[in-house]
Amino acid sequence: MDDTIRSNLSVWKRLQDENYFENHPCYKGISDFGGQEAIQAIEWFVPIREQMKIVVIGCGYGRETLRLAPLVDRVYGIDVNETILKKAVDYLAARNVNNFTPVLAEAFAEDVPEGIDLVFSIVVMQHLTRDLVRNYFLHLAKKLSPGGGFVVQFLDEPGVDHEKTDASNTGGGEPSISWSPWQLVDLARNAKLQFVELRTQLVTEAALWHWAYFRKQE
Ligand SMILES: C[S@@+](CC[C@H](N)C(=O)[O-])C[C@H]1O[C@@H](n2cnc3c(N)ncnc32)[C@H](O)[C@@H]1O
Repeated sequence: MDDTIRSNLSVWKRLQDENYFENHPCYKGISDFGGQEAIQAIEWFVPIREQMKIVVIGCGYGRETLRLAPLVDRVYGIDVNETILKKAVDYLAARNVNNFTPVLAEAFAEDVPEGIDLVFSIVVMQHLTRDLVRNYFLHLAKKLSPGGGFVVQFLDEPGVDHEKTDASNTGGGEPSISWSPWQLVDLARNAKLQFVELRTQLVTEAALWHWAYFRKQE
């Protein structure tokens, strides 16, 4: 593991140990807000099926998993440490979601099984280094079942240096990094995935969200 990856992971472990969600101005604690946008985004590209096994990268306390898990067979939620994964298990169990498997980020390549139908992620890729993102795509692409794919959201802000490898820190302490459409094409090619489509939303005055749909090659 190189120094930028190690340092990004340790920032996030610290943020979670310091109650990131409870202190964050947008989340304002661990609560049942949103999550529906995850379902909507997936259904832009693929129908959700009961038999699906889904991986959520950066599951946090389980906000989107709460909506997703009742619709599918199993959700594997990856996050940085036991602190946040325990919160996710407790949050989801208290809401009768019992098909959630917590996975530590540092062990995902071993602990996520083969036969994954969908890899999903929202508000996470912008907080990781490019190498961490490439690593997730490379390893999880190999675990996809035939017809499987990725539906993942990326941030793109104006005036940023897209070539920058690592993420600078924003006011909140989280790293923030932009991805251009062509960098997403490279990401798909690097993981030997078929780049199917991007769907782009203007989410604030100065932020685009690219929803990428990449599929396992036939
Ligand atoms: C802004 S939160 C979003 C959480 C959740 N997706 C949501 O929308 O509520 C970013 C999440 O990514 C997690 N994260 C950071 N680095 C990660 C990594 N290398 N692998 C997996 N998750 C990571 C953080 O711990 C945090 O839970």
